[in-house]
Amino acid sequence: MTPAALISKKRDGAELSAEEIGSLVDGYVDGSVAECQMSAWAMAVFLQGMTTAETAALTDAMLRSGETFQWEPQTDRPPTGDKHSSGGVGDKVSIPLAPALACCGLWVPMISGRGLGATGGTLDKLESIPGFNVDFDIAETQRLARELGCVICSASPKLVPADRKLYALRDVTGTVPSIPLITASIMSKKLAEGLDALVLDVKCGSGAFMKTREAAHALAVSLVETGKRMGVKTAALVTDMNQPLGRLAGNAVEIDESVACIEGAGPADLRDLTVALGGELLALAGLAKDDAEGRTKLTATLDDGTAREKLAEMVHAQGGDLDAPRPRAAASEVAAERAGVVTAVDTEALGWAVIELGGGRKQLGDELDHSVGLEMLVRIGDQVDAGQPLVTLFANSAGREAAQRLVAAAVTIGDDAAPEPPLVIERID
Ligand code: URA
Repeated sequence: MTPAALISKKRDGAELSAEEIGSLVDGYVDGSVAECQMSAWAMAVFLQGMTTAETAALTDAMLRSGETFQWEPQTDRPPTGDKHSSGGVGDKVSIPLAPALACCGLWVPMISGRGLGATGGTLDKLESIPGFNVDFDIAETQRLARELGCVICSASPKLVPADRKLYALRDVTGTVPSIPLITASIMSKKLAEGLDALVLDVKCGSGAFMKTREAAHALAVSLVETGKRMGVKTAALVTDMNQPLGRLAGNAVEIDESVACIEGAGPADLRDLTVALGGELLALAGLAKDDAEGRTKLTATLDDGTAREKLAEMVHAQGGDLDAPRPRAAASEVAAERAGVVTAVDTEALGWAVIELGGGRKQLGDELDHSVGLEMLVRIGDQVDAGQPLVTLFANSAGREAAQRLVAAAVTIGDDAAPEPPLVIERID
């Protein structure tokens, strides 16, 4: 069939075969399917959805568009595993988790992303460590995973080129929030790592792409089904993103909080989620008999200093120095206008505030100010007095006023008691 016929078939709600999906993806990568045709097809998928078989076929076609990691036979090496988050504000879990997992015997070749929309990116945070390098080819990434047990880096241009192209197209055609397209985008990149086990953190709430439990559940099911269909032991936790994870959001400030977590300190929610995701992954990879034993093993590495040592080793191997001073901009406070209870936080707006300060990109290619960010001083359910500081902003002059306005409007203070939302909402396997 021609691209036009395949677009019409999807537009009319029919199921495409794996060959048909493969021909579209291959044609898009080699230039024989035009940008306008692929964007029409992406919109047809956005509106009509995809079956599980179609989603798996799209994931597979995207995965095959580039090179993949080739590991030695499973019997001759430790298991490989990774964690992927659908993105949130203050989500720094990868930074303490990868070294902690390596200390438990897993090889973690973690490919991470940059900020997307209002959410922060692990690579941007790590680059606030002086000298830290995220660009390695596939062979070098595998070497680091073998030698150290963990590496956190960007996707090499040879890995899943179809996603690179399709993601940029979706970004400008209103087709990002489609469950099958998100699934294929995330899973093709994760499966290209040649993983034995994968745990997904699907964020849900005001700071996530999935605002409702229903949408987050549907994405988690789609990701887990696709992973399993493609032979990877996969599970997902749906977790709360109705307020930032931890207290700090930005770049260097999130490294500071990650270091606190890996030293066995820091906010309880960050530690609990790191341990919960790590426990799942160790059990999936066969390094713990169940998630409870996985959590115990992972906790021990945070508390006995071994994960801290491994993080410093990984940072050093990637060209950085964890002990070099990190920048932090001047602090100012946003205070409560009235007394009451914190009933809601517009977490996405807090993410936009960090971007206003220069901690994220407004345009492709913007330089980041690693020293800016914010600290949440209150949580949902807290009682506050009028004039009490709610949020500390770390700002240079650029964007300070815009960020202040966003932050002041983002914290809702009401009269009724508000329960703190549960951190882990649901587990899917
Ligand atoms: N993250 C990705 O890698 N792809 C998406 O489509 C959405 C989030």
